[in-house]
Amino acid sequence: MRKRNFYGSLVMKNQWKTIIEPFRIKMVEPLGFTSDGERKSLLKKAHYNLFQIPADKVLIDLLTDSGTSAMSSEQWACMMRGDESYAGARSFFVFEKAVKNLTGYHHVLPVHQGRAAERILMSVLCGPGKTVIANTHFDTTRANVEAVGARALDLPVKEALNFGSPAPFKGNMDVAALKTSISNIGPENIPMIIMTITNNSLGGQPVSLANLKAVSEVARKNKIPVMIDAARFAENAFLIKKREPGQGHRPVLDIARDIFSCASGCLMSAKKDAFANIGGFLAFNDSSWLKKSKDLLILGEGFPTYGGLAGRDLEAIARGLEEILDENYLSYRMRSAEYLAEGLRKHGVPIVEPPGGHAIYVDAKKFLPHIPPHRFPAQALVCELYLTAGIRSVEVGSLMFGRGEGENFTPASMELVRLALPRRVYTQSHVDFIIEVFGDIARRKKSLRGLEITEAPESLRHFTVKLRPLK
Ligand code: F0G
Repeated sequence: MRKRNFYGSLVMKNQWKTIIEPFRIKMVEPLGFTSDGERKSLLKKAHYNLFQIPADKVLIDLLTDSGTSAMSSEQWACMMRGDESYAGARSFFVFEKAVKNLTGYHHVLPVHQGRAAERILMSVLCGPGKTVIANTHFDTTRANVEAVGARALDLPVKEALNFGSPAPFKGNMDVAALKTSISNIGPENIPMIIMTITNNSLGGQPVSLANLKAVSEVARKNKIPVMIDAARFAENAFLIKKREPGQGHRPVLDIARDIFSCASGCLMSAKKDAFANIGGFLAFNDSSWLKKSKDLLILGEGFPTYGGLAGRDLEAIARGLEEILDENYLSYRMRSAEYLAEGLRKHGVPIVEPPGGHAIYVDAKKFLPHIPPHRFPAQALVCELYLTAGIRSVEVGSLMFGRGEGENFTPASMELVRLALPRRVYTQSHVDFIIEVFGDIARRKKSLRGLEITEAPESLRHFTVKLRPLK
């Protein structure tokens, strides 16, 4: 019998070496070519912070995979059907059905993006004296926990920080450390455990089903709800299929449903694994969280049947949640990341191994050992990629997660450059170009210099910080 995928289209037999982009291109957008001199002055004007560079002055934009996906013709068609009624729009019910079908959770609240779901959830469940435990909080999640006076505690497995190790599930939570922390802190002071899948802040590494089940078991015994940060749930589910023993034969949708069944609810930024340019949701089972969540939703986002989104956005998300589970797409997606990883390794560029789904992370501490953490080696590489070829990437290191400056400086535990891959946007020759640029930088890496901060805000400093290169 011939195998069909989720949509009924044929799954190709694995007889071919080349995994192709499972789409053809109907609409194109020109890239922003610039001269060397132009980039030099733009970078200076941006105070060496790539968030301040106009996007049309970027040639290849690997800043984020968030909100940057190319939508499908079906998603655009669904958008034309968007019902823009203020209350009870048909598009809300389409959206709600898609989320319930995937997650199985009873209550579904749309929000304008992931961090709005975080803000609502933390305001409902957290406060001073509380500790939220995660495999690793994403930066906005941590900021929202801390904004309500609670503490954010990360308990990743030890191998997560051994970037060169090829362990398959470095996104896992350290279950022994979880048990110890619960008994030290007291379960009554832990309003939730968050599992971020994949673990974006530590190399985009996946969490195994076995680890999710183990965490869920400990949480259940201590009556602590588990919440999934589901931004990249499909990539995580596909990596489970590829890497976890006994999962290889299962449809990714079934694996995804198993993931959600390990938790009491989820927060999702639909800007990632729903191929949407904006949107998100909060979904959960506990009816006692509903009233306050809805009150906050109405206060900050909008009426509960649109939550800060247009009806057409709800349609695009509903369709995207189905498309993301297409296994032809997911194999192409993982292959694109692996291909970039292979190219970088050939030039001796150290990366977080093994490659995850949405990005490749370069280990700048290893690549540029002559630049100490307080001189931001990863930001030096981010700037060089832009200066050399107009490639935009993002620092995930002491600029993002370190604290203080000068004598009060505390470094982050890693100095990484994330090369995020927007979904369905760039082709193989774009990736070949990125690899060639890295080859060029690798040859002259000793000449790269660090930076110092000239002005920084209180929190989430990487977005607006100003820097100056050292001579
Ligand atoms: N959780 C994770 C794991 C994320 O990666 C993000 C966003 C959020 C929550 C917040 O969602 O942006 O819709 O408010 N990550 C983006 C990134 C910004 O570039 O990785 P949001």
